[in-house]
Amino acid sequence: MNEILAEINALKREKNAVILSHYYMPPELQVLENVGGVADFIGDSLGLSVEATRVKAENIVFCGVAFMAETAKILNPAKKVFMPDIEAGCSLASSITAKDVKELKQRHPGIPVIAYVNTYAETKAECDICCTSRNALRIAASFDSEELIFVPDIYMGQNLQQSLTAQTGKKLILWHGRCEVHEQFTQSSMSALELMYPAAEILMHWEVPLETVSASFQKTKGVLGSTNDIIKYVGQSPAHQFILASECDLGATLKGTYPDKEFITPCIKCPHMKKNTLQNTLQALRAIGTNDAMKYEIDLPADIMQRAYLPIKRMMDFV
Ligand code: 13P
Ligand code: SF4
Repeated sequence: MNEILAEINALKREKNAVILSHYYMPPELQVLENVGGVADFIGDSLGLSVEATRVKAENIVFCGVAFMAETAKILNPAKKVFMPDIEAGCSLASSITAKDVKELKQRHPGIPVIAYVNTYAETKAECDICCTSRNALRIAASFDSEELIFVPDIYMGQNLQQSLTAQTGKKLILWHGRCEVHEQFTQSSMSALELMYPAAEILMHWEVPLETVSASFQKTKGVLGSTNDIIKYVGQSPAHQFILASECDLGATLKGTYPDKEFITPCIKCPHMKKNTLQNTLQALRAIGTNDAMKYEIDLPADIMQRAYLPIKRMMDFV
């Protein structure tokens, strides 16, 4: 194992590359190089987008899923962005196409379209602004329009609607996408865990179904938010024990950051995120500068990159 870590770190220098890792990576890809791992930066989807704009290296190896690596490329067209497995997708991103958005706009003329960043570049290109789970509420509230189209996550949209109704009375028109990970946190599975761990607080992602959110927060304290909100909340809460209603491997960062707290982490993992391994990260790095590079490199048509830039850039004003 140490040999592979050493080779990855040596290749990063040789190939002028950095590794950006999402919090849902397997734990071995979450550890930063300065503490014995290989990652140069770890973050949620917004944090990774911000970091992508700061990277000095010529090459970015993105340990995450394709919609995230595409966002990094669009923000940095002059850099090369590689993925250990170019097939790492997302059930939300694949639930909607550019054509679907065009049809929605025809059915609801003049209504602004907010695209969750979990969409492919072609879809983003048809939208007015992107958001992540960290800034969705602020972005939705910033529009004057009484109605907004929010795509593609129906559950996140319903959760957002609850908060927006309380704050602004705005109405969201929703699509039917679902995160195949977070939809598994059902009311009955969560209520069983809440009975087993009555002193625990809940750490719940926006992508969990509304009926689970409503039932859980009726009885139990905690946070509903983005990955970053979840990490921050634990630091501010006096509670000792937490039930994680989000991707299981986020538990690695939580345990590492708060070694004195206890986390109940149901073993629900994103199969797309898990396509990234140390082995294929090494292969992607080896391929940089060779004929094999295109197997790993994000390559988007210039016109799509240009049109998807504006909604992403607008999102970056809400960091
Ligand atoms: P974050 O924006 O919280 O990183 O979430 C990304 C994601 O894929 C959630 O399932
Ligand atoms: Fe997509 Fe869900 Fe996986 Fe995130 S956890 S990448 S939203 S399938």
